[in-house]
Amino acid sequence: MPSDIQPLPDYSEASITEAFTHLLHDLESDAASILSDEQIETFRLRWEGRKQGRLPDISGIWLKGAPDPATRKAIGEQFAKLKARFVELYEYLRSPERLVKVPVSEPGLVLEFATQGGTIERNLKKYASPLDITLPGTTRAPGIPHPLLKTMHEIVSVFHHLGYSTNLGPQVESDFYNFEALNFPPDHPARDTQDTLLIAAQHTRPSRDRLLMRTHTSPVQIRTMVQQKPPIRIVIPGKVHRNDAADATHSPIFHQVEGLCVDTNITFSDLKGTLDHAMKALFGSDVKTRFFPSFFPFTEPSADVQISCIFCGGKGCRKCKHSGWIELLGCGMVDPAVFAAVTAERNKDRRELDPRDDAYNPERITGFAFGMGVERIAMIQHGISDIGHFYSGDMRFLEQFA
Ligand code: DAH
Repeated sequence: MPSDIQPLPDYSEASITEAFTHLLHDLESDAASILSDEQIETFRLRWEGRKQGRLPDISGIWLKGAPDPATRKAIGEQFAKLKARFVELYEYLRSPERLVKVPVSEPGLVLEFATQGGTIERNLKKYASPLDITLPGTTRAPGIPHPLLKTMHEIVSVFHHLGYSTNLGPQVESDFYNFEALNFPPDHPARDTQDTLLIAAQHTRPSRDRLLMRTHTSPVQIRTMVQQKPPIRIVIPGKVHRNDAADATHSPIFHQVEGLCVDTNITFSDLKGTLDHAMKALFGSDVKTRFFPSFFPFTEPSADVQISCIFCGGKGCRKCKHSGWIELLGCGMVDPAVFAAVTAERNKDRRELDPRDDAYNPERITGFAFGMGVERIAMIQHGISDIGHFYSGDMRFLEQFA
């Protein structure tokens, strides 16, 4: 019985393409319907068999009957593709690996493939149902802001609503900005409280230029004032570094939000009102604030701000060490020595005849500053007792903030 290949109706490009498209489609569905070894042989004969195969007939009838070399070439190319696909499918059907790769979820099934005695029929059935609807699905978790960044944005946005803008500065900082201009003279004991991480090989530089990892965000106060005249209202969020051993409440790298407000007629009352508002915005309108005398070289007077304990409402509990108050941040009125350092820096490159910049004359200008630890605030907000959770990357922790 000859194959079903008939002479082409005509040798137009459209007819040739259509005929081969049909054949390719037939070839694929023929291969896909095979269920047994015998059917593979029937498949081979139907396409490649000498007497009844379609491929020899295409060569004998279409190719040989082509009216000119260009048409023959066009048919030849399509014929080669069809033949190559046949060879590919035939080899695949006969290859022992074809079922080894089948993802079967039921135990045992994967070991039974054609070469080990199973009939193709059986194996193809297994191949047809690789889906196990009892397996857990693949879920794609949406990204969320890290809880620390969330708190940092919250703090910053409280101040944005008060008209503050944001400024950033480098984490590798010079001694001048981190200490000297903030009124920490060289060898002053207050430097010891900062546990500074120094950059190596800086000793040949003048001391003000020596590099270190910034220990606080306060140097950006100086950077801002050197660049801008008053009035200034800025918040400065960022990473800071200290040579601290990690424990439940300390980490060598942590985050702060700094604030600076400089203008004429800025008073301690402005500082109190601003921070009282900010604490109420962050922790709820019931919290009270109180200002406790403290010391920072760059503010005078300086204060620690405490809020009434949000866990016990001020009655006293373990979290507030039974005092009813939680210490949250440092603040104070900008020390005139800081304005003096800023003024010197602003005039550093002044030539003899240039007018002296006096934008930060402490006779006219006052200001307040504050600095808070983001981790500490986030820990209190969420009742987290170990700072290490923030950096662990543990999804069970992080997911709770989604
Ligand atoms: N820089 C201080 C620290 O890291 C925090 C601080 C205290 C910042 C008082 C201020 C301030 O701006 O006025 O310990």
